[in-house]
Amino acid sequence: MRKDWAGFGVDLHLEVSTGGGRRRGLEEALRQAVRDGRLPRGTRLPSTRSLAAELGLSRGTVSAAYDQLVAEGYLATRPGSATEVADVSPTTLSRSEPPSEPSPGPGHHLQLPTGPSAAPLYDLRLPAGPSATPLHDLRPGQPDLSAFPARAWLRATRHVLSTAPAEVLGPCDPRGRIELRAALAGYLARTRGVITTPDLIVVTTGFVQALNLLVQVIDGPIATEEPGHDFYREVLRRAGRETVPLPVDGLGAQVDTLTGATAAAVVTPAHQYPTGVPLHPARRRALREWGGLVVEDDYDGEFRYDRQPVGAFQGTAPDRVVYVGTTSESLAPALRLGWMAVPPSLIGPVAEAKLHTDTHTEVLGQLVLARLIETHDYDRHIRAARLRYRRRRELMLARLGPGPGQPLPGVALPGVAAGLRALLLLPEEGPAEGELLAECERRGIALRAASPLWRGDGPGGLLIGYAAASERAYPHALEALARVLAGT
Ligand SMILES: Cc1ncc(COP(=O)(O)O)c(C=O)c1O
Repeated sequence: MRKDWAGFGVDLHLEVSTGGGRRRGLEEALRQAVRDGRLPRGTRLPSTRSLAAELGLSRGTVSAAYDQLVAEGYLATRPGSATEVADVSPTTLSRSEPPSEPSPGPGHHLQLPTGPSAAPLYDLRLPAGPSATPLHDLRPGQPDLSAFPARAWLRATRHVLSTAPAEVLGPCDPRGRIELRAALAGYLARTRGVITTPDLIVVTTGFVQALNLLVQVIDGPIATEEPGHDFYREVLRRAGRETVPLPVDGLGAQVDTLTGATAAAVVTPAHQYPTGVPLHPARRRALREWGGLVVEDDYDGEFRYDRQPVGAFQGTAPDRVVYVGTTSESLAPALRLGWMAVPPSLIGPVAEAKLHTDTHTEVLGQLVLARLIETHDYDRHIRAARLRYRRRRELMLARLGPGPGQPLPGVALPGVAAGLRALLLLPEEGPAEGELLAECERRGIALRAASPLWRGDGPGGLLIGYAAASERAYPHALEALARVLAGT
């Protein structure tokens, strides 16, 4: 039944409140999405069966909600085709307006407020990649590259090269091509609840560049989650920035520890890296009330497997949050394509920083990604990947998690309802992290130690990526790891 989920058109982020009944909650969520322009006219909705399965509702409930919205004129149906958003006037126009004219290039069109006087120099060395694909690939932070949507990418590339005017090969707005910024503004609103417009989006080469641009436009110490990604902490350190630890517990980042002395906080509210917990609603409120700039790293927001929707934090405070997304986990890290949705007060300085950093991101890739989003091939790819990774996660939990046959009793696997990786915490009595890693290396299993994610002494553990291996190779990789944990 689930096999064909990927063919159902658009992906959708809906927060259904069940206070007044499920059907009513769904109706209101859909109505709101149409009214505020997140679901533009003509958008195909998923079938009642697939939406029911995704939201954990009965098919009858979804069907009744669709019927009601058809009666109200929000949705339209035609015999033999999907239910679509009807032609209604959204109250918030910014997101549904046609994109503004492409800018002729840096310096011509964009009025850039003056940014900081000098851009710091960066050390751009990247961590060395492994020389060959490991026998058992459980590296975190990497999607299944064998499932890259090569056909759709090729189709989109052909389309772009055969239809784009020659001017696309000329200078580009430092924020990126308008086609991609417009596609992203719609996509992010629809799937993640991000509130933005094409003018406020900056296309980057990924999260790492977003950080590098932001350190050029904000002064003062920057808080990073503890535990958090050591690579990004190092990026900030190399940029000469003081970082302040923002401790994380079972409810996510302890945002009440943030003070006025901290300029910005880099957080992962949808799925804390690496513990996996979503930021608790009370903490979200407190973060909104804190006066500093929030940098939201939504690195794997698309991949949530339970039915608890966790929208982007940015949607609750668009004037104070820089939302950052990337294709590194959804498509491939080698594309180097990401985006920022920037508050209006920062868009000028960020665009200027981008201009003086690399002029703009490479254009053909941007146009191909825009086409992929416009045709919904991107949605289809995400939905298929989400199903695949959900199955893999279930397999991992069944093989390594608590229960009969667990290879190493006492192992904890917290926060695995989302993402492409799991944090496996080792029992205090051992075995030691180093010992296990050495054994994994001997057997050709590639994964990461968890302890470097803490600044000080972190608990021993493993960071397991369950997306990187191909479909066929994954069960063998899991089995090999289970044997190492069992000491056999
Ligand atoms: C926590 C976190 N943030 C962001 C990213 C993406 O970084 P980039 O877009 O620079 O590849 C990753 C890795 O994919 C990650 O693990």
